[in-house]
Amino acid sequence: MRVKIAPSILSADFSRMGEAVKKCEASGADFIHCDVMDGSFVAPITFGGQMVKNIRPVTKLPLDVHLMIEHPQTQIKFFADAGADIITVHVEACEKISPNYLRDTLGLIKSYGVKCGAVINPDVSEEKLFPVLDMCDMVLVMSVFPGYGGQKFIDSVLPKVSSLRAQAAKIGKPDMDIEIDGGISLKTAPMAVKAGANVLVAGSALFGAEDMAAAVKELKAQ
Ligand code: DX5
Ligand code: ZN
Repeated sequence: MRVKIAPSILSADFSRMGEAVKKCEASGADFIHCDVMDGSFVAPITFGGQMVKNIRPVTKLPLDVHLMIEHPQTQIKFFADAGADIITVHVEACEKISPNYLRDTLGLIKSYGVKCGAVINPDVSEEKLFPVLDMCDMVLVMSVFPGYGGQKFIDSVLPKVSSLRAQAAKIGKPDMDIEIDGGISLKTAPMAVKAGANVLVAGSALFGAEDMAAAVKELKAQ
């Protein structure tokens, strides 16, 4: 499968966000990964729908909005209206509300004509995603505990990626996007791709690179 790159703007200078997004596009990225944090599901607060709305006209790339927030249903409309192309929500935030909350949230995202996906933390079984794979355009496996860029890749999540790739094939979606997020670098990307991931989120590895375009190209070559 073709490897797609999703630079995380969490690693950008927020005072120059437009330029950062343009640089990602010019560097050959496939998505702009927007890390939304609420200060509750994860400790830091990053940004909300207004940021997504402001970067929407700056790029043609799809905006991949990763919601690290409690009660995601309350925010879907804002991000859909802001121009998100895909919204992903955490299984852990949904399951503490009710058993149907995840499925209902994915349905709500779709009702706005936006692609949807579900995310699992490094310590959560991929089997929690199986019941909603039919609805998901993408699944996201966290390879760090969310909250901060620049953390070390947790390689024990790799078998979950392989298991998800097998399960996706089993339900007739062999090409489903499987995204991996956290600690992706030239060293860890080959392992992630070999396991079955085809969308690589990278923050510090890309924004810290001397030549972002070269780094995107090298990550894609895995
Ligand atoms: C972690 C975020 C990631 C993060 C990735 O909470 O979801 O998207 O920004 O950053 P790196 O690539 O530096 O691990
Ligand atoms: Zn993310």
